Amino acid sequence: MKMQDITGKVAVITGASSGIGEAAARLLAQEGVHVILAARRRERLDSLASELGNAASIIETDVASKAQVAALFNQVRERFGGLDLLFNNAGIGINARFETSDPDEWRQMIDVNLYGVLHCTQAAIPLMRGRAGAMICSVSSVGGRHGVENWSVYSATKFAVVGFHDALRKELGPDRIRVSVIEPGAVWTEFGQNVSEALDDRRAKLEALASEDVAQALVYAFAQPANVLVQEILLRPVLQLAP
Ligand SMILES: NC(=O)c1ccc[n+]([C@@H]2O[C@H](COP(=O)([O-])OP(=O)(O)OC[C@H]3O[C@@H](n4cnc5c(N)ncnc54)[C@H](OP(=O)(O)O)[C@@H]3O)[C@@H](O)[C@H]2O)c1
Repeated sequence: MKMQDITGKVAVITGASSGIGEAAARLLAQEGVHVILAARRRERLDSLASELGNAASIIETDVASKAQVAALFNQVRERFGGLDLLFNNAGIGINARFETSDPDEWRQMIDVNLYGVLHCTQAAIPLMRGRAGAMICSVSSVGGRHGVENWSVYSATKFAVVGFHDALRKELGPDRIRVSVIEPGAVWTEFGQNVSEALDDRRAKLEALASEDVAQALVYAFAQPANVLVQEILLRPVLQLAP
């Protein structure tokens, strides 16, 4: 198979403290990538970093904070001189019927799922220019392609990520920065805390994906030859027929 050797590349992974981000960090580290773990829960990051040894660095970051994101990428520039992969994975989902939902919760989701992606991406672009095979990959969702009832605002943030990526791909293509989006269906993670039991039942029925399945999709896209853009990967459990 014609794949890029990704040994020695540098990746920032947001939301690396659990679920898909944690699995992505493990798999990229196995492939020889230096992973910069960014999230808020320090103890989770410490335990993953101690498992990964020299392959990982921690930069504790709240992606909803413009200042913390700026500090993250300043450190990346100073310590590594550039960046090959930005994995915009941090995200939250709060389940609610729209009519009775809490606007403060809309804002939390928009701050992390949309502003987090925007801040990180804007700060990363100058560090990626001129690096062969550089890629920005964001995690949207099947809910970013199809509206999901009781997840309306979450769906809106994930639709926004897809639209943003399609425009950004056109802006950054001439610089050979690849812009890719992954849209998972149900995955076994801590996502959806306010409805975790109901989600666990649904995940069991659907034989939900493992975080590692999504991590493999990321590495598949990243390890393509530098001129090959895997623009979009929608992956779902075979039993998940809708949305
Ligand atoms: N699980 C699914 O079924 C599913 C389906 C489709 C899409 N997704 C998407 O997949 C992505 C990863 O979620 P997951 O399923 O792996 O769930 P998860 O285990 O809950 O992981 C979410 C990650 O996001 C981080 N995060 C949340 N708010 C943050 C903030 N303000 N700043 C920095 N990091 C923050 C969390 O870290 P800290 O709390 O430590 O900051 C955590 O590492 C999300 O974008 C989610 O929307 C999930």
